[in-house]
Amino acid sequence: MFAMKKKRQAICQKIYHSPRGPLLKMLFGQRSEYVSLILVFASWHPFHDPLPSTTSGRERLSLNAGWKFSRFTTNPDRLQYNTLKPWMLPAANDFLKSGTKRQRPSDAPPKVDYAQPSFDDSAWESLNLPHDWAIKGPFNAPNVSGGMGRLPSNGVGWYRRNLTAKADDLTKSIFLDVDGAMSYAAVWLNGNLVGGWPFGYASFRLELTPYLRVGDNTLAIRLENAVQNSRWYPGAGIYRNVWIVKVNPVHVGQYGTYITTPSISAQSATANLAVTVENKGSASQDVDIVTKVYAVDSVAGKRLSDPAATFATVKSNVAAGGSQTVNGSVTIANPLLWGPPPGQKPNLYTAVTTVLEAGTSNVLDTYETPFGIRSVTYDADKGIFVNGQKVYVQGTCNHHDLGSLGAAFNTRALQRQFEMLKDMGSNALRTSHNPPAPEFLELADKMGFMVLDEIFDCWSNGKTTNDFHLIFADWHEADLRSFVRRDRNHPSVIAWSYGNEIPEQSGTGGAATAQELKDILRSEDPTRLGTTGMNSASAGSAFANVMDIIGLNYQGEGIGPSASSAAPNFKKAYPNKMIWSSESASTLSTRGTYIFPVSSAISTTAGGATAGGNNTAQYVSAYDLYAPSWGSSPDKVFREQDKNSFIAGEFVWTGFDYIGEPTPYDKSRSSYFGIIDLAGFKKDRFYLYQSRWAPNVKMAHILPHWTWPDRLGQVTPVHVFTSADEAELFVNGKSAGRKKKASSSTYRFRWDDVVYQPGDIKVVTYKNGAEWATDTKKTAGDAAKLTASADRTTIKGATGEDLSFITVAVTDASGEVSPRASDAITFAVTSGPGQIVTTDNGDPTDMTVFQNPTRKAFSGLALGIVRANPGTTAGQKIVVTATAAGLTAASVTLEVV
Ligand code: GAL
Repeated sequence: MFAMKKKRQAICQKIYHSPRGPLLKMLFGQRSEYVSLILVFASWHPFHDPLPSTTSGRERLSLNAGWKFSRFTTNPDRLQYNTLKPWMLPAANDFLKSGTKRQRPSDAPPKVDYAQPSFDDSAWESLNLPHDWAIKGPFNAPNVSGGMGRLPSNGVGWYRRNLTAKADDLTKSIFLDVDGAMSYAAVWLNGNLVGGWPFGYASFRLELTPYLRVGDNTLAIRLENAVQNSRWYPGAGIYRNVWIVKVNPVHVGQYGTYITTPSISAQSATANLAVTVENKGSASQDVDIVTKVYAVDSVAGKRLSDPAATFATVKSNVAAGGSQTVNGSVTIANPLLWGPPPGQKPNLYTAVTTVLEAGTSNVLDTYETPFGIRSVTYDADKGIFVNGQKVYVQGTCNHHDLGSLGAAFNTRALQRQFEMLKDMGSNALRTSHNPPAPEFLELADKMGFMVLDEIFDCWSNGKTTNDFHLIFADWHEADLRSFVRRDRNHPSVIAWSYGNEIPEQSGTGGAATAQELKDILRSEDPTRLGTTGMNSASAGSAFANVMDIIGLNYQGEGIGPSASSAAPNFKKAYPNKMIWSSESASTLSTRGTYIFPVSSAISTTAGGATAGGNNTAQYVSAYDLYAPSWGSSPDKVFREQDKNSFIAGEFVWTGFDYIGEPTPYDKSRSSYFGIIDLAGFKKDRFYLYQSRWAPNVKMAHILPHWTWPDRLGQVTPVHVFTSADEAELFVNGKSAGRKKKASSSTYRFRWDDVVYQPGDIKVVTYKNGAEWATDTKKTAGDAAKLTASADRTTIKGATGEDLSFITVAVTDASGEVSPRASDAITFAVTSGPGQIVTTDNGDPTDMTVFQNPTRKAFSGLALGIVRANPGTTAGQKIVVTATAAGLTAASVTLEVV
């Protein structure tokens, strides 16, 4: 008994000496026995989901597992944003410089049953995050437009979860970090409204500490999506990772470090560091702040053991309830620079900041800041220079959905997309039109992509009834500051975009808002330039005058097939500003679908059968010559860029097809703009970009396929994309002519009068007179079998997050793909601990829900996405089998690692 009392007293002493101690002492005073009793009891509680304690500062724990969820199509709780807003607004306080900080109302917010610990959620769905409630469909959801992807993203969603706290947790600051929740997130703990953040693409933090109690706690999150809130598929739900961060009350604040590398040479680099320490305790604290810089081994992904540099220790005092920013500078010898491949390597460093109780070795917090050492310069005549080397911007724009996985973030799915873009020779990404998942930038850093990090699609004037314009006034400053603070240490970010095709760009008032946003950016990050994508602002306009970089959407190549680039006008108006195509092309096509006749022009506005469209099937020809009225073929974009060599490069709309915005066929489920389709299968123009962006890759690619039983004797043009400068086409062994690239503005070889006969077509290409690459297309026989191949045959089992993407092709007996096959293929795990997650085929008109294991092949191909059951141990095998009526089945074996 005595030993127990001693233990209680010891715990009490520990708590009273912690930075929150004075507060607890004040509350409980001499009743320390009582406090310690509660705490000792609590520490014995059989926690099923403990928040483990630590003696050395920070813990960041995934909160993805174990949620209950329910979605309501009609408002179940009579709450709405405007009712909750007064309690949500204070969450922005750390990101407001102008105006007054927001006070939490003194009266209580409306009480809501779903947030109460006593609410019985046992009938709700059990799930893990990231979660997109809309992706399971079905399509054609009532009131959801084609633009938004026809999936049920609207409604109210409630998420609930237990959170168990230990006694020790009460001595800490406990934060909930949400990487992204779509949208209007409001958060309750134990029935208390903690706060919220409406912008569905923002990452945000809320402090749970005041509402946390020892033992079980009920965390409840309400989301709401209106119809007509987006121009594309927004996803729905807590679609990114969620974390609990436990720190000593004296800790490095949220996004509390900022590293810049203002001077760089081969011998040395200067790194400047600002660290913001906040004190949520009730006593001021003297601290020593120590930061060491380590190089990161790019293969192992781990930091090296010896520091590359150490900042001088900074002493500071952080007042109770306050924060303190300290600065330091260090020289790093022989720096390994970050730069985009293939010319450079994406070397990374990490700065490890330790906050110590002054004069002791008692660690209050440890905080890691990954960063890169690199310089970026923006040259009006020559474009972007990274570390003094010119890099032409070969970028794509992409929305955030991951095809059939929806908006639910998955690192491997994004990495697969980046790998494909890299194979194409792409070196840049635009986060159109909103902040990406944090892991997007981590991957971009590691793989060496340059990122145009974009935040808004509209400001005060909306593009849809319920989009961001409704909250722009209250939230734009906080959204912009938190976005920049979150992302500014990433070397991949080379510029900020604070708007896309902003409606105000051509009207009045736009320039003033642009200036305000630019000033905010500057105050948070003076090292990078800012821009917006302008599709209508003209050279010399008040709006364009504000831009640091002239970002041209479609104006870069000229809007419409006969227009030429507006860039020379902008160059004349802004001789000292860099100009790039922040958005280009918008070429339309459906993979593997060729529509005749083929336009003889370099770029044609799509529209019906004579202009590349099949209005019945709702497909656009894959000859890649067709675009909407404002868009252009890749060829035309290249031509205008080559005429105007000061253009720093382009961000093509888009790398991947995405859900929603199915221009020009509004009844479809997904877009036609991608260079790669929704399933991740390459369209022909992948090779057109590769021919220009990766000129050293020996490549030749013929289109169309050569299985046309209905075109015997008909003219069937053959086009070739290649990095070679000469090409000879053979039709059934007979030369159809050897051609040289006619001029610097020819980007494809065309034999437009080839007459179809079954057999084969072969191209042999040459560069500087030497044979370079060949390609052949053969007429396929009757479909006979399936073949299956996995993008990776090893898969991590532990968390079930890793994925294998399995491509199944319908082929003839010799293995030639049947390019028009549409057989129904069923994917199944026939042995081992795995699951089929989703299937797809890239057909924009396919309304079969993505979770259906049976998927029709489209243009001969179908995709199955597989994961290991969570908790699967290494060494086990998963066999995935694809079957289709009348065809020999195919299997692929995955090994769990
Ligand atoms: C642009 C817009 C994009 C997308 C694209 C389609 O004007 O910025 O979001 O809508 O058109 O071509």
